[in-house]
Amino acid sequence: MNQEELQIISKALVSSGKGILAADESSNTCKKRFDSVGIECTEETRRKYRGLLFTSPGASEFMSGVIFYDETFWQSSDEDQTFPKYLEINNIIPGIKVDKGLINLPGFPGEKLTQGLDGLPEQMIKYADAGAKFAKWRSVIAIGENIPTEECIKSNAFVLARYARICQDTGIVPIVEPEVLFDGTHTIEQSEQTLAKTYEILFKTMQEMRVFMPGAILKTSMVLPGKDSGAEINHDDTAKRTVRVLHEHVPQDLGGVVFLSGGQKSNDAFINLNRIAKLGPHPWGVTFSYSRALQDPVLKLWAKDRENKKAVQDLFLNQLRLAGAASLGELDESELHDNTEATKSQDL
Ligand code: G3H
Repeated sequence: MNQEELQIISKALVSSGKGILAADESSNTCKKRFDSVGIECTEETRRKYRGLLFTSPGASEFMSGVIFYDETFWQSSDEDQTFPKYLEINNIIPGIKVDKGLINLPGFPGEKLTQGLDGLPEQMIKYADAGAKFAKWRSVIAIGENIPTEECIKSNAFVLARYARICQDTGIVPIVEPEVLFDGTHTIEQSEQTLAKTYEILFKTMQEMRVFMPGAILKTSMVLPGKDSGAEINHDDTAKRTVRVLHEHVPQDLGGVVFLSGGQKSNDAFINLNRIAKLGPHPWGVTFSYSRALQDPVLKLWAKDRENKKAVQDLFLNQLRLAGAASLGELDESELHDNTEATKSQDL
């Protein structure tokens, strides 16, 4: 394992004022998103849309990296350059989602395990040879009646730790993502307790599996009341609790912390990140790794006007700019307009 190289990549991913675009939705998820705005979902429309995002002029000012889905990783821009190559030349780090999605955890109704470890070392070598510098694996922890169980958290932590060590042996920085779902009727206190328990088990397991902490990144949910709980999001409370749980349970030498948006409205995801950043300094670089919060309004605009490349890319750049400012705690929140709806998370 080249520890120095892993640290350089981790640091670059969370470097000041920049964050990660998650464009790794599976083809099924992509179809749901495209269906919702009336766009036919084909290999070519997915390539076209994602290519618009990656090639937005000026994006590298705010975008440190992009997480690809396997299909996109091997696709090319209109100028016939593979997307990873295009990003590398433009100083943006290419990454790849490597998990194979969720299955039911046998014996534990309502709980999930993420699959994809079989053949992963060989697959990882192919991605590394083709330019991937980091990877992502998403596990899901749901909050409900009598869940999550400790067994579910432990099972997912074990798989995340195994994946992380496989990545590092190939020179790839692992993003470990134990997503505590926003979906549900739980309280903000339950969200905080679940994140605390999850981090505690995850990082203990990662230590045991000999993961090199400075060469790994945590992708995490924020502490929020369940989306169907009826409680409004209080940005300061979310920021205070998120910072508390991170500072108390995440190793200080970890390579970085990035947030998912989780189905929050874009503006909530931006404001919460802004308030979290304002509560710094933090021991690690802290930034965004958003899919929906960056993309929702952009996809809507593209659906309305497929020919207006410039307007779509300008809007995407503006989303990145807002998220970048939020990651520094420098977002002018009065700039935000209410433009998106909350969405469901379970089946990304
Ligand atoms: O794994 C989750 C995605 O990469 C982030 O998506 O920001 O829409 O929650 P999201």
